[in-house]
Amino acid sequence: MDWLGTGIDGPLVVIRAIHFVATATIMGTLIFRAVVVEAAARSAKPAAAIVRAQTLCVAWICLALLAASGLVWFLLEAASMSGLPFGETMTSDVLFTVANETQFGRVTETRVVMVAILAGCLAYDRFPLVRGLALAMSVGLIAAVAWTGHAGSTAGEMGILHLIADALHLVAAAVWIGGLVSLVLLLSAIRRDQTHAGMSFARDATQSFSTMGIAIVVVVFATGLVNTWILVGSLHVLVATGYGRLLMLKIALFAVMLLFAAANRFWLTPRLALPSGSKIEVLRRLVRNSTVEIALALLIFAIVGVLGTLHPAIHAL
Ligand code: HEM
Repeated sequence: MDWLGTGIDGPLVVIRAIHFVATATIMGTLIFRAVVVEAAARSAKPAAAIVRAQTLCVAWICLALLAASGLVWFLLEAASMSGLPFGETMTSDVLFTVANETQFGRVTETRVVMVAILAGCLAYDRFPLVRGLALAMSVGLIAAVAWTGHAGSTAGEMGILHLIADALHLVAAAVWIGGLVSLVLLLSAIRRDQTHAGMSFARDATQSFSTMGIAIVVVVFATGLVNTWILVGSLHVLVATGYGRLLMLKIALFAVMLLFAAANRFWLTPRLALPSGSKIEVLRRLVRNSTVEIALALLIFAIVGVLGTLHPAIHAL
């Protein structure tokens, strides 16, 4: 369906964005639990138990959203590939052909298997080995998206570089965004808890997440530059094309996210370690800033939902 004559397929953009958000959040949440919560949990077992339960709940909700949006994405892609009206595309022949004779279809089949394994892992989440497998499946699910987008159709050695950069880009973005969702849930739980142990848990978790955050931002930016170099190619094309201008808006939103992340890292987190001052107020501001970061990231996912359906700018001029 052409959105307002812009040539943008509205439903496809929306479903891609929802799918990216759900896939990124489940992976980032499981990484946050494994790296941040488990490391900080020794000092506050009750609060850690609350956060673990929240993580599992978020993971199940995102898995359901990932599966439902993935199915609709597959049907919409099949319709756009076949060129037939949506209703006529729902015949088994077209769907079978797309599933088995296109790269998008084969990647989708692989991701369906990963979703099934991940669901099984979440059902047996109490076993550490199973939690490890769940983590691996969630990383595989987000990284495999690279094979469904522009990176999956770049040929030759440049194609290998593009796939590696895009897969790393997706994984790093997922650790950031999914981690922010878990951080907001954790800090909100501590605000309700208000025990000393809870406060040190919040301090340790915020510190280790924002330390991890520096490496994440570097990877997101560096792999984003590689994507930009391959799909745009020059500053002139960046400014002169619709794709390029949309990407510039995305980079501007990323820059604003960095400002909020920096305020959390260099101004608010250190105040959680001070003996005096209102920790509750610091927690409130950390939650507010992290929620703003999440809102900006949702806008970025919406932009990416569009970018992946447009012809790369490098071919536009
Ligand atoms: C929080 C920040 C960011 C997030 C959440 C994010 C997320 C994403 C996602 C989900 C994709 C889709 C990949 C695909 O379809 O294969 C993507 C693609 C891309 N990203 Fe980012 N990204 C971020 C920052 C950046 C930055 C800073 C740059 C540039 C320096 C950048 C440049 C790109 C480009 C060029 C693409 C390829 C779009 C296409 O397939 O046409 N991203 N990004």
